[in-house]
Amino acid sequence: MHRPSRPKPSLFRGRPANEDRRSPSGWGAVILGSAIFFTVLTAGALLAPADEATKPRRVVKVLRDPALGDDAVARMENVIGQSIFERIWVSAPSSTEAADGLGPMFNARSCAACHPGGAHGTLVNKDGSLSPSLLVRLGARKDGAADPVYGRQLQTEAARGVPREGGFTLDDALSQTKLADGTIVTLRRPTVTLHDMAAGPLAPDTVTGLRLAPAIHGMGPLDSIPAKAIMALADPDDKDGDGVSGRVHWLDAEQKTFGRFGWKAIMPSLEAQNSHAFFADMGLSTPLFPDAYGECTARQTACRAAPSGASPQFEDLEVTSTLVKVLDRFVAEAVLPAGPKPLADAATLEKGRAVFAAAGCQACHHPGYDIEWPKGAAMKRHISPYTDLLLHDMGDGLAEDLIEDQAEGREWRTAPLWGLRWAVDHQGQGALLHDGRARNILEAILWHGGEALPARDHVANLSANDRQALISFLSSL
Ligand code: HEC
Ligand code: HEC
Repeated sequence: MHRPSRPKPSLFRGRPANEDRRSPSGWGAVILGSAIFFTVLTAGALLAPADEATKPRRVVKVLRDPALGDDAVARMENVIGQSIFERIWVSAPSSTEAADGLGPMFNARSCAACHPGGAHGTLVNKDGSLSPSLLVRLGARKDGAADPVYGRQLQTEAARGVPREGGFTLDDALSQTKLADGTIVTLRRPTVTLHDMAAGPLAPDTVTGLRLAPAIHGMGPLDSIPAKAIMALADPDDKDGDGVSGRVHWLDAEQKTFGRFGWKAIMPSLEAQNSHAFFADMGLSTPLFPDAYGECTARQTACRAAPSGASPQFEDLEVTSTLVKVLDRFVAEAVLPAGPKPLADAATLEKGRAVFAAAGCQACHHPGYDIEWPKGAAMKRHISPYTDLLLHDMGDGLAEDLIEDQAEGREWRTAPLWGLRWAVDHQGQGALLHDGRARNILEAILWHGGEALPARDHVANLSANDRQALISFLSSL
């Protein structure tokens, strides 16, 4: 199998000293709202915190929601669903027709390669190379239209005989912010450099956006939040004057379909999200996305000419409707295991919850809903995902140039906060936000701007004690 070797990334550490290709524009300072002061540091000045990102994370694996009962057929389907999630697909033609069809271009060979155990993706592999969990999306600056050659996503891998689209490295722009109690926090912001592009540079108008794989637990419940409940939280013109104006990500002019999944809520349903992952991330066709060539455009002739894995006994698809259904159910029913036990005591957690409310976090991280889950259940169930699933203007610090569907560069879907206890390790380290730039919960909060600036400033002005209580509370969710 021809696999172009991935160059060692200079992940969040600046380029190696022998590779002096820094573009002046790549090193801008990030102005952090009303941060008390900020300075620009050259990347590489702070190697120690970045090393945390390469530490092994705690192992976690999603389970079938125990509240769904112990039905033998469902349990069996769950095992099959999990095996599809973990299945390592191969390129066609192969001796295992049921598992071939990968590519011709792809980012990873299995769902689990990007969502390990169904959990949050990591930025780097154990050997220090960039993990496939981090993707580069592409689109025209003015309207997000696909790049005429490379499409909407950079596929960094390809089947034998087909050139991969290219690779990328990351640099970081570092900035410092000082909290009211004198604590100095260093923040890093990744910038992408593409290299080895198979058909030359991107179109001049094409811009990039980074996306890190989120965890896949609680997806069925999120899909079951009634549309009305989400619409009731929207306040696009900020009529209540609280400075927070979330909007539904309508995907059509008639306002019939809206997005729930992905960092910009571009996917309207769990089924669409999963089948799109087969299509764009792995190059596998499904009933919803039947093109066996995945993301390869008409101009990528070597890709179009490669063999596909679609065969008549499998509905002319690479992943049949039955397999897709079983996988969808597995994802819908996935929950995180209980634990780990919070390190803080109950009083501290309660105090943290109060700080969360006082800071105004709940204006977007909406605590809970009563839903019908599983669908058709007689009893309503209460869930606490801490999201309104709406788009918010999060300010310049988090903004990128890429527009996805109707979501502007500054707009992001409120990230659900349930499961944060598994997204960060025992030292509170992890890779948070859409591009994994935040190494811990405090950094994630300090990146909040735009509509969330007052909440961010509230946290920057807390006493060390209250701030720690807030972080303990969030790490227990
Ligand atoms: C190459 C890496 C990669 C692969 C392979 C991959 N994903 Fe993802 N997944 C992502 C990224 C990145 C996102 C965020 C996408 C976005 O923001 O639009 C995501 C988002 C999701 C979400 C939505 C989560 C949320 O909170 O909105 C689900 C569900 C999901 N993936 C399931 C799957 C399934 C099922 C498969 C296999 C069929 C799969 N993924 C394969 C990278 C991957
Ligand atoms: C105006 C809406 C809004 C407010 C207010 C807000 N957030 Fe967020 N939050 C978001 C959005 C949107 C994201 C995702 C941003 C991104 O990834 O670029 C996010 C992401 C996060 C994350 C990272 C989650 C992850 O999985 O990566 C944490 C932690 C967080 N918020 C905590 C808080 C806390 C604590 C507060 C209150 C001090 C707060 N937020 C206030 C909208 C908001």
